[in-house]
Amino acid sequence: MKYLYLALGLLAISPIYSQSILLKWEAVAPGVWKAVVGQPESIHLLGVAGINPKTQVLNKLGERNFPELQKSAVYEIFDHKVYLRFPLEEKEQLYGLGLNFKSVRQRGTVKTLHVDHYGGRDDGRTHAPVPFYVSDQGYGILINSARYLTVYAGTGVRKDSPNPPEEKDRNTRKDWDANPYSDAVEVLVPATGTEVFLFAGNTPLEVVQRYNLYTGGGVLPPLWGLGFTHRTPTLFTDKDVLNEVEEFEKKGYPLSFVGLEPGWQSHAYPNSFVWDQGRFPDPASFIKRLLEKNIRVNLWLNPYASTKSPVYKDLIPHAASHTVWVGVVPDFHVPTARELYKKLFNEQHLSVGVSGYKIDETDGYDTWLWPDVTRFPSGFSAEQIRQTYGLQIQKMTADWFRERNQRTYGLSRASNAGASALPYVIYNDYYNHRDFITALCNSSFIGVLWTPEARSSATSEEWLRRMQAVCLSPMAMLNAWADGTKPWSFPEVAEAVKEVMLLRMQLLPYLYTTFAQYHFEGKPPVRAMPLNDDGQFFEKDIRDQFFLGEYLLVAPFFAGERSRQVVLPKGKWYDFYTGALAGENQIIEVHQSTPGPIPLYVKEGGFIPMIPPQLFPPKKNESLPLIIRYYGTQPSQGNLYDDDGETFDYEKGQYSWSELKAKKDPNGQWRGTIATPSGKPFRYVDIQWEWMVK
Ligand code: GAL
Repeated sequence: MKYLYLALGLLAISPIYSQSILLKWEAVAPGVWKAVVGQPESIHLLGVAGINPKTQVLNKLGERNFPELQKSAVYEIFDHKVYLRFPLEEKEQLYGLGLNFKSVRQRGTVKTLHVDHYGGRDDGRTHAPVPFYVSDQGYGILINSARYLTVYAGTGVRKDSPNPPEEKDRNTRKDWDANPYSDAVEVLVPATGTEVFLFAGNTPLEVVQRYNLYTGGGVLPPLWGLGFTHRTPTLFTDKDVLNEVEEFEKKGYPLSFVGLEPGWQSHAYPNSFVWDQGRFPDPASFIKRLLEKNIRVNLWLNPYASTKSPVYKDLIPHAASHTVWVGVVPDFHVPTARELYKKLFNEQHLSVGVSGYKIDETDGYDTWLWPDVTRFPSGFSAEQIRQTYGLQIQKMTADWFRERNQRTYGLSRASNAGASALPYVIYNDYYNHRDFITALCNSSFIGVLWTPEARSSATSEEWLRRMQAVCLSPMAMLNAWADGTKPWSFPEVAEAVKEVMLLRMQLLPYLYTTFAQYHFEGKPPVRAMPLNDDGQFFEKDIRDQFFLGEYLLVAPFFAGERSRQVVLPKGKWYDFYTGALAGENQIIEVHQSTPGPIPLYVKEGGFIPMIPPQLFPPKKNESLPLIIRYYGTQPSQGNLYDDDGETFDYEKGQYSWSELKAKKDPNGQWRGTIATPSGKPFRYVDIQWEWMVK
């Protein structure tokens, strides 16, 4: 008895640690491993995203050694939560962990990953709080859990750390640091189980490629999706929209698809989902008129059903306990809820020619979104549904279009892990230009797309700078819903804005090839600087420039700037406009005494296939002249992708990769050749080469 008391007493004073257990990894594809911890929940991010791993391409990418560091990754299950710990090397840098707006490097940060409208701090509350981080040591970790995860990305210091930071006296040591070195990433998963994935790669880019391939390969948008899109003001009528479209044409500004904002429907916030008879008496004819010019229509909505909606009554038993703006919140895990939406949306939208959606308000804000005490008929918690709602609607709507063998490309304000293959681009209301570019960089690590939309501006210079940047992004969009801004609203820059919008159209073959590389190879179309081909590490934390595809480097100017620094990676880089050598492996200073074109650089050996300026997107199989610009002093080889631009027939082999070659003939003249497989879609005729480097 005496001993028992003694033992109990010891237990009371010494904390009890459960034993950390090594994660048990199992290979699921070459260079991809999975570890199962405890009992994973039935709802998880990759499941809701409906991923379809591109196993063949992963096989082709080949095996990688298991990252040494990860041999010591451990977990515990305690207090109904999973505790995960992944080792960090002293000089290691981390990227990813959601769509951040202010920072690219994430080591030393704490985040609670939570789907929300971005609130101005990189604290984990964001539109795509993807629990995936990429290390510059050649691996990435994904926690496949639909929970609010807390990630300590190299902040905690354990007393048994094999390599603890030095203890310093703050009074005497100037180098005392409130955030001393930490040797681990630790993650708290508020559930008793989860899957963890590990992706390897020789470079951060290869890690991201494996992540994108495992989650289905990146989306290949329809060709029209890569043109220019304009969202018309709230409460516009069909005539207003047609007039606006006509003005674009008359003034010579290109347009690929128009977005209808609140007011196309009879009731918004919450939604009826049916056309307003007064403003849009005949939606089918309205859309037909636009389609004659090959302009598509995208519809804004939030998914919350109004009493005025035909789905309302039948939806009530399949909806959440709480409402949003008194609209009912469908539980899309219930098949009847999905069917109700599918039937109504097909009747009202898809069958009359609507080409896509902008799915709003699925991210937050907490004060008006359904709260976490909400109950859902499927039995999943409000937390789990919050983390996956945007993802689920993206997948559901994308499938409707797929059933019609029609590609779509739309907008969503909420997303999460596994979204690479989904045809949606994230946007928000935050509207800080510089931070919008940082978000563009960050989107590239986590398999999502982002648009730094242009909406309004205080000055003509700001307007130009915003329009330039958005034209070099995954979706070139003017969102005029509130301000009614037109591309030509600022006369001083109206021509310069037109120029960059037309450049966007000229670049379609390059952009389309870039997205095909996303789809077929997993390489993100926009790439932050750490995602360069060589895995080069830059001393500077770069947040204001990015790669667009294989060859282009984009360095936007911000309003008020007359000069900026551009970091040029290894290898020669040429000015896109002139072909002049800009530098190599160095930081250059770019000056513009008056606001000029957006600085663009092309890598040595780069092919930029372009078409002449177009006002409308090319039609299915429409033939087009091609101008291939070559930037280089050495022979090189590249690729050009094509297919019908609209359907999923490319999945049945209906596409072509043409091989581009540039080399000098015996007389020292540059010669270009293009080899296209016969019998495959290829729209280009009359091919010309431009040798940019003199
Ligand atoms: C916001 C959205 C805007 C615009 C607006 C329409 O929530 O972010 O882009 O669509 O709704 O009311």
